[in-house]
Amino acid sequence: MSARSDRVSPVPSPVLDCRGVSKAFGGVQALQDFTLRVDPGALIGLIGPNGAGKTTAFNVLTGVLRPSAGRIFVAGTDLTGKRPHVFARHGVARTFQNIRLFPDMTVHENVMTGLHMRHGAGLAATVLGLPAFHRSEDRIAERAAELLGVLRLSDLIDVRAGDLAYGDQRRVEIARALATEPRVLLLDEPAAGLNPHESNALIGMIRRINGDMGIAVVLVEHDMRLVMELCQRIHVLDHGRELAVGTPAEVQDDPRVVEAYLGTSAKAAHRHA
Ligand SMILES: Nc1ncnc2c1ncn2[C@@H]1O[C@H](COP(=O)(O)OP(=O)(O)O)[C@@H](O)[C@H]1O
Ligand SMILES: [Mg+2]
Repeated sequence: MSARSDRVSPVPSPVLDCRGVSKAFGGVQALQDFTLRVDPGALIGLIGPNGAGKTTAFNVLTGVLRPSAGRIFVAGTDLTGKRPHVFARHGVARTFQNIRLFPDMTVHENVMTGLHMRHGAGLAATVLGLPAFHRSEDRIAERAAELLGVLRLSDLIDVRAGDLAYGDQRRVEIARALATEPRVLLLDEPAAGLNPHESNALIGMIRRINGDMGIAVVLVEHDMRLVMELCQRIHVLDHGRELAVGTPAEVQDDPRVVEAYLGTSAKAAHRHA
């Protein structure tokens, strides 16, 4: 029996552990005392009306914004105040509310850029064109093709990203984020602008990423069908604060959540009544 198995059973560190994080922009408290724990393999929803602080949460969770208070741990390491590339290296990947593919590169090349971050040859080998560089380039090209296969995007491999249908661009952007081999993937409104057919393809893809590949996912999304269908737990933000947290059923029936979502339109309707 190995020494390791004699130890007290280790509790796996959460892949992402965000404790009491706040972020203000001038007078606007965009995020206040935000706490989120993402265990390995979890699929968590983050919802709330426009301006609730969802994207700000993703920005602090990826090092784009430095929190004014609180701490962020990634797989047990405190990365509070670190730069985005450090978060990426520790396994945090994301997509953006607006697609950010390289439009003039093919799907294959876009995905290869994600892999370069993780597996690129050293600068010297790259500049000098040493064999190590060519080997790693071949390997990266191969792995990108493999990943596109797993995600059922092989048909698109040689298409210029700018020529893709909108829904396909969304899925390729997710593929590129996965090429960094993350522990946790943050998706910011991936279904925005998708038709029902494209949303279904996206649901299938998120299931494969989370279920088959075992990668934890945090999903910011307005499409409630998608959120309710996919997520195990949902956090609801409103005006930068956590309004509720629970299972899809609990959150859906929470009167505070209904009020936050309907509040504006209900008040407007009342005014016009
Ligand atoms: N870079 C920024 N500078 C100033 N204010 C910002 C910035 N980013 C977000 N905000 C403000 O913070 C609040 C939360 O925004 P955001 O996180 O984008 O919300 P959501 O993604 O939930 O719609 C809003 O009031 C927004 O105007
Ligand atoms: Mg947003």
